[in-house]
Order: sequence, then C-alpha cells, then structure tokens
Amino acid sequence: MRTFLIAAAAVACMAFVGTAQASEALAKEKGCLACHDINKKKMGPSYKDVAAKYKGKADAEAMLVAKVSGAKGHPKVKANEEETKTIVKWILAM
Ligand code: HEC
Repeated sequence: MRTFLIAAAAVACMAFVGTAQASEALAKEKGCLACHDINKKKMGPSYKDVAAKYKGKADAEAMLVAKVSGAKGHPKVKANEEETKTIVKWILAM
C-alpha cells in the first residue's frame, strides 16, 4: 500500500511537471516570454507577480483570458483563446 501510494504520488508529480513544461514551451512559442519573464519584470509584469496579484480570485482565469486574447489593454497576441487559457492557467498556478 505504502509503495503504491509513493508510486502514485511520483506519477502525479511527473504529470504535473510535464504539463508545466508544455505550457512554458507554449508561452515561449507564442511570444509571451518576449515581453514577460517568470521571475522578473520586463515590458510586462513577471508571471509570479501576476499569480500573486490574482491569488484567490475566482474569476481571475476568465478575466485574464478575456483581457489577453481580446487585446483589451493588452498588446495583441499570437495565441488563440484556447492557447491563452492554457498559458493563463499555468501562470495562475505559480
Ligand atoms: C508586446 C509585449 C507583450 C506580449 C507579446 C505579451 N504581453 Fe502580456 N503584458 C504586456 C504588458 C505591457 C502588460 C501590462 C499591461 C497590462 O496589464 O495589460 C501585460 C500584462 C499581462 C498579464 C497581466 C494582466 C493583468 O491584468 O494583470 C497577463 C496575464 C499577460 N500579460 C499574459 C500574456 C500572455 C499569456 C501572453 C502570450 C499569449 C502575453 N501576455 C504576451 C505585454 C505583452
């Protein structure tokens, strides 16, 4: 049982890391990381700062997806709404 739990936790952990890496690659491919960095401010705020700012806000994901993909107060991006959602989820989980 114990071994099983450890194995299950390891698998869950690897799956999570895999998703995070895929999202980071997507953010890079879509040019988000040209203006944003995970840890420090560039042209846009760091993603860690964005995550901290919206921590605990239930509608943060929908609001940010609408803001970024709707180009309202945010520069136009190459990512479509679905891709933006994936990246925003990744940012908010930081
Ligand atoms: C041309 C530069 C540029 C690109 C490319 C860019 N951003 Fe931004 N981003 C900014 C700037 C500048 C701000 C700060 C102004 C603002 O809040 O709109 C910002 C703010 C944000 C915020 C915080 C908004 C808020 O209300 O706090 C998020 C989330 C974000 N960007 C996500 C993304 C994602 C995801 C992508 C890629 C699909 C992306 N950005 C691409 C410049 C950029």
